[in-house]
Amino acid sequence: MIKKNQIVKFRDHHTPFYYYDLDVLKSTLTTLRKESKNSGYKIHYALKANANPRILKIISSNGFGADCVSWNEIDAAIKAGFDPSKIAFAGVGKSDSEISNALEAGIFCFNCESIPEIEVIEQIAAKKKKTAQIALRINPLVDAHTHKYITTGIEESKFGIHTWELDNVLSVLSKMKHIQLIGMHFHIGSQITKMSVFKSLCTHINELQDWFSNRGVDIKVVNVGGGLGIDYENPERAPLFAEYFNLLNEFIDLKPGQELHLEPGRSVIGQCGSLITKVLYIKNGCNTIFAIVDAGMTDLIRPALYQAHHKIENLTSKGSIYRYDVVGPICESSDTFAKFIVLPETRRGDIIAIRSAGAYGEAMASRYNLRDLPGVVFSDEL
Ligand code: LLP
Repeated sequence: MIKKNQIVKFRDHHTPFYYYDLDVLKSTLTTLRKESKNSGYKIHYALKANANPRILKIISSNGFGADCVSWNEIDAAIKAGFDPSKIAFAGVGKSDSEISNALEAGIFCFNCESIPEIEVIEQIAAKKKKTAQIALRINPLVDAHTHKYITTGIEESKFGIHTWELDNVLSVLSKMKHIQLIGMHFHIGSQITKMSVFKSLCTHINELQDWFSNRGVDIKVVNVGGGLGIDYENPERAPLFAEYFNLLNEFIDLKPGQELHLEPGRSVIGQCGSLITKVLYIKNGCNTIFAIVDAGMTDLIRPALYQAHHKIENLTSKGSIYRYDVVGPICESSDTFAKFIVLPETRRGDIIAIRSAGAYGEAMASRYNLRDLPGVVFSDEL
């Protein structure tokens, strides 16, 4: 809940800006820490959701590891205090220099997505006389039932190694001297709200556990990736960590000594962030009223890219209710935050909050139209 005294202070800041409520972030982290401690699961925060340096410092101070998808993310994680020995490096297209830097930094593990990638890691590690720990990202063919752009575990996905290739992977690995296979990794998609999806993933994981153990391969780490969704309609509602962890606990058959790793991104950081923007103009359309705000798809691309819904609140009006299309200033019709939504009568100068924008908001901002990047304001700065 954005409080009245905070709203007054929003007026002192240049809009648009991301507002991070640190009380919400800290309470989310406390729950996550408690649940992970109870279950013994290890958390690797997915930096791609939000890599703001101050946010990273707060998350790393909880002792979590990091899931990174570029050398720059690894570098940012280390600078923010994440222990390199708790950093996993994922992604289908790691470049040679990124692999080399990651090996030098002594990261925990490369989550590998193809045989050619494993071969390059072997060559680079051999040159450096180092051993790279790897996990195989396996495509379990489980549909995440989320937006198609953030579905990653179906037949057409570019991600992961297919199960029919695993025999081949093991034979390639058996000839390598600088690679140590330590785990299997999965990530079937993001903003998953059906718990049954995770249940299907668990079934596939158990089958693969048997597949590896039948071949005498010791898998130390089972990494289930990220994906836990948040409730965009109810920004005050906390993510369902306990329910999710209980499900994993009930349905994954871990072998003695195995560790279960998770890579949450959105669920850690989504609810604590709002994009704060000011109404520039109210304009009549044919069948609607446009509220044109000073934030655009360059600041928050999710509605334009994934038709995502973020709850929108007018923080400074209490008038009668009207319907509006809330749009930005960018020269694209997709620059629309919401269509035909109910807001109290909205006027030029009103302050609008676009809620649940902490994840994949600031991190995906761009300078299209040569716009400035959005500002950032933390709750303890108000
Ligand atoms: N692990 C891997 C390998 C991933 O690819 C991702 C997200 C995560 C973990 C974290 O997933 P999360 O817990 O945040 O769902 N820009 C999109 C989301 C893209 C997610 C990409 N991968 C959005 O705004 O919805």
